[in-house]
Amino acid sequence: MSSEDIWFDTRRCFIGGAWVESDSGEDLELTNPSNGKIICSIVRGNTADIERAVTAASKALEDSWGRMTAPERGRILFRLGQLVLDNTETLARLEAMDVGKPLTQARADVIALARYLEFYGGAVDKVHGETIPYLDGYTVYTLRERHGVTGHIIPWNYPMQIIGRSVGAALAMGNAAVLKPAEEACLTALAFADLARQAGLPAGALNVVPGLGAEAGAALTQHPGVQHISFTGSVGVGKLIQAAAAQNVVPVTLELGGKSPQLVFEDADVEKALPFLVNAGIQNAGQTCSASSRILVHSSRYDEVVSKMAARYRNLQVGPAMDDLDVGPLISQRQKTIVEGFLERGKGLEVAAEGDITSDAPSDGAYVRPTLYSGVSPDHVLAQQEIFGPVQVIIPFSDEEEAVRIANGTPFGLVASVWSDSGARQMRLAKKLRAGQVFLNNYGAGGGVELPFGGAGLSGHGREKGFEALYGFSTLKTVAAHHG
Ligand code: NAI
Ligand code: MG
Repeated sequence: MSSEDIWFDTRRCFIGGAWVESDSGEDLELTNPSNGKIICSIVRGNTADIERAVTAASKALEDSWGRMTAPERGRILFRLGQLVLDNTETLARLEAMDVGKPLTQARADVIALARYLEFYGGAVDKVHGETIPYLDGYTVYTLRERHGVTGHIIPWNYPMQIIGRSVGAALAMGNAAVLKPAEEACLTALAFADLARQAGLPAGALNVVPGLGAEAGAALTQHPGVQHISFTGSVGVGKLIQAAAAQNVVPVTLELGGKSPQLVFEDADVEKALPFLVNAGIQNAGQTCSASSRILVHSSRYDEVVSKMAARYRNLQVGPAMDDLDVGPLISQRQKTIVEGFLERGKGLEVAAEGDITSDAPSDGAYVRPTLYSGVSPDHVLAQQEIFGPVQVIIPFSDEEEAVRIANGTPFGLVASVWSDSGARQMRLAKKLRAGQVFLNNYGAGGGVELPFGGAGLSGHGREKGFEALYGFSTLKTVAAHHG
């Protein structure tokens, strides 16, 4: 692990195709959560930098980027996807160092980023309007048009994947993007900017301004030159962003996390379910919007599921990202304090099992022990609130109706899964569960470039991934011609 992997300038913003000094003249520090050490300084972008970035993006729309055809844009995204793949190991090390995720998971995120670029690069020339039969003497058709300048505020948990699904789709549709990565982890966003430059993306089509949420982030969401905002992060900031967008009356896509359940019925294949039940909770140390933090189990299989999940938890190894164990550190000491606060509130609950922090994990790393609670009441705070740490609760139920009531009994609705051999039950519950994605006899936390993704309730609104993202990052114009 070393800063030798950083080939770009972390103390500059990427605006108008060039690395430029920030107006602030100030830096922030980036910390490696595996050992608490400073990785490097990063630029503290401010309102003036956002202003320049939005201006550069608007100009790109008038210049060559704005005049390119869909296949031309697609070809650039393919080249960028290939450059991402060519740099897999470097990008994976950067992400592992910055986010704290085990190297294997970081490598999977690089592949996912490349897949998004390939998917959107190949899909964009298949996005067509339609003709609409209308009155005699008319021809009516629709055109799909870019929004213009799109703002992207992304979190620290999956920087590369979220850049892929959001910036990738926006660029494919011909928008010019301004990206504000998270202050806790922004190395791969800067690396991506430099790879985009190498791939021949025209100046201003992508601009990256690192900085604090309340400074650069807020400035981006309030800017009247931005025509669409996509945000992934906390519910509280999501509300601020929707309010800011309302001032300019622009659309927002909000992806705000969840409390996603997996429902295990009496006729479930528990052996098949087990790795999904556990991995969906501990992947990326539980810091996944679509983490499955609630496991609902029919009373007839309850003891079996608790003991089998507990056995897996006892084998979990927690340690530095580069040791590539099951679980890395949390993103920061601040996140560790949040998660420990939940564990404190879990005192008095049954702990079915805990994982182990390896002895060579540095004491200044942000480590917590994965914790599995059993016999938890659906109303308990640990069964209601997003924890964003490697913590799962097991909740028993006695029939299907109760299972649905518990599953739908939080303010969130992102992902759900049903483990059952009954096809009729699968179909019934796919309709009844409140979630943007329902998995039947599997669970796809974070997966699926092709699969539309987004939530209901406090999990947000709008859809990313798949073709839906291309519709979301464009608007529809209806043209009605009267020709007699
Ligand atoms: P956050 O929502 O504050 O940060 C996400 C992004 O929003 C970052 O880029 C940040 O700089 C930006 N931001 C913050 N304040 C802003 C503002 N006023 N205007 C514009 N942008 C702003 O999330 P945070 O504080 O890092 O994590 C807190 C909790 O949020 C976590 O414990 C977790 O529950 C949830 N979260 C959910 C995520 C998801 O994938 N759905 C990702 C990250 C956090
Ligand atoms: Mg915050």
